[in-house]
Amino acid sequence: MPDVLIQTVQPFEGQKPGTSGLRKKTAVFRSPGYLESYVQSVFDAIGGVAGKTMVLGGDGRFFAAEAAQTILRMAAANGAARAIVGQGALLSTPAASHLIRLRGADFGIVLSASHNPGGPEGDFGVKLNLGNGGPAPEGVTEAIHALSRTIDRYRTLATDDIDLSATGATTLGAMTVEIVDPVADYADLMAGLFDFAAIRALFARGFRMRFDAMNAVTGPYAREILERRLGAAPGTVVNAVPLSDFGGLHPDPNPTWAADLVALMNAPGAPDFAAASDGDGDRHMILGPGVYVSPSDSFAVLAANAHLAPGYARGLAGVARSMPTSSAVDRVAAALGIECHETPTGWKFFGTLLDAGRATLCGEESFGAGSDHVREKDGLWAVLLWLDILAARGEGVAAVMEDHWRRFGRTWYSRHDYEALPQAVADRVIDGLRRQLAELPGRTVCGLTVTGADDFAYVDPVDGTATAGQGLRVRLSDEARFVLRLSGTGTEGATLRLYLERHGDDWHGEVQDRLAEVAAAAEEIAGIRRLTGRAGPHVVT
Ligand code: G6P
Ligand code: ZN
Repeated sequence: MPDVLIQTVQPFEGQKPGTSGLRKKTAVFRSPGYLESYVQSVFDAIGGVAGKTMVLGGDGRFFAAEAAQTILRMAAANGAARAIVGQGALLSTPAASHLIRLRGADFGIVLSASHNPGGPEGDFGVKLNLGNGGPAPEGVTEAIHALSRTIDRYRTLATDDIDLSATGATTLGAMTVEIVDPVADYADLMAGLFDFAAIRALFARGFRMRFDAMNAVTGPYAREILERRLGAAPGTVVNAVPLSDFGGLHPDPNPTWAADLVALMNAPGAPDFAAASDGDGDRHMILGPGVYVSPSDSFAVLAANAHLAPGYARGLAGVARSMPTSSAVDRVAAALGIECHETPTGWKFFGTLLDAGRATLCGEESFGAGSDHVREKDGLWAVLLWLDILAARGEGVAAVMEDHWRRFGRTWYSRHDYEALPQAVADRVIDGLRRQLAELPGRTVCGLTVTGADDFAYVDPVDGTATAGQGLRVRLSDEARFVLRLSGTGTEGATLRLYLERHGDDWHGEVQDRLAEVAAAAEEIAGIRRLTGRAGPHVVT
């Protein structure tokens, strides 16, 4: 047996998990002792790992292979009984969530900074999921942060790296390490939810699709499911090999970072359907020929049509969306007569609702949707549900969207991001708006009257946990609103997100035109451009 080593370490500042795990510059994670200190705090915060089973994998970004070896050694030295690791240390976030649940593991660690660029100059991240397969809730992440401030030692083993390149079982000290195919169980789960025969028939009839894996983790999943199991033409999946630097791409499926895909779909001869996913496979973007489906609309369409897929044929118990996500799904829920919950940003807030059976589908404006099949959002799941809906309805994306807007009206929606701002500047904008909240109602700005304004606070209806300060909302006349909040996932300075929304029955026109008054009202009230000195947002989704 290799020796257990007790190494001394100094606490590091700022090991505070954000919206989705601890995310920092890769260089920070590579500072001596940084990863170890955090991982020991994680282990201690969940009551130690002695005798427990851990799932481990990630999106294959730079430093992940090395980090996986460190974590395995530490888990073994802390007495873990078993580690289930994706081959090559790969596991998409939804596949990791599924594996935790399937195998009854106690917890999982996903090595990813999601859609943030990777590489030595890029970002790295460590996410903790618990036994239900979902992200650790606030109570646990706060405990990790508290422990990280006083930690003075960590446990590891004096051993070499183990080979993670082939499936099979091995041991590390007294811990069993099981290296599994990262794709197979997940692909089986999808086959149980969707009508693969109908989707296969759709492809056999000549339906053409492009799926852009953005050189990130979904490549192997999409190839197996779309090309092998569903018979999509070889080459349907592009950028299909996970690369440690994502080939220099920013693996975020939105019109800015997947501009090539959008251009393809706007050009003559576009395929019938296109989709992209992010670094760790939990996000999705949907496109049809000449059509970009906003994430909030994608979620609403999925909720309205989910019953067409075998896995949801019994209907939905309820839906949940994050507060900044548009109210498009609220209208679907009202029509279906089901509960609709409004939560703070971050998938972790859906966990209790999913576990309690009060929400079957959850979605966010940040290109995330998912269901109770796992406890994470799931990019490929959303793409497959779309395919199932297109196959069942025998219609294309544009026809599905038009029909949706005809039935429910259209919720015009856009998010404007101001990135890499000095923290003090971003705080000044937020504080400035917060101070005005009480006096805003009744004021008319740019033709719109403020009908309500607050700082969003949430009480979890299942476990009563209260969460305050989750974004400033300003409701306007004409079924319009804007929301302003600080991103919790950035690694450079602060990012302000301005979310614009307006509902109307006429669905024709350009999104930004339709939202121009709302944007002008937001600027007049919050003064983002004025206070930041920026001419406009960096990213518009
Ligand atoms: C991650 C989380 C999502 C969240 C998104 C945006 O992807 O998993 O739940 O909506 O980040 O977070 P941010 O704080 O950057 O707006
Ligand atoms: Zn992600």
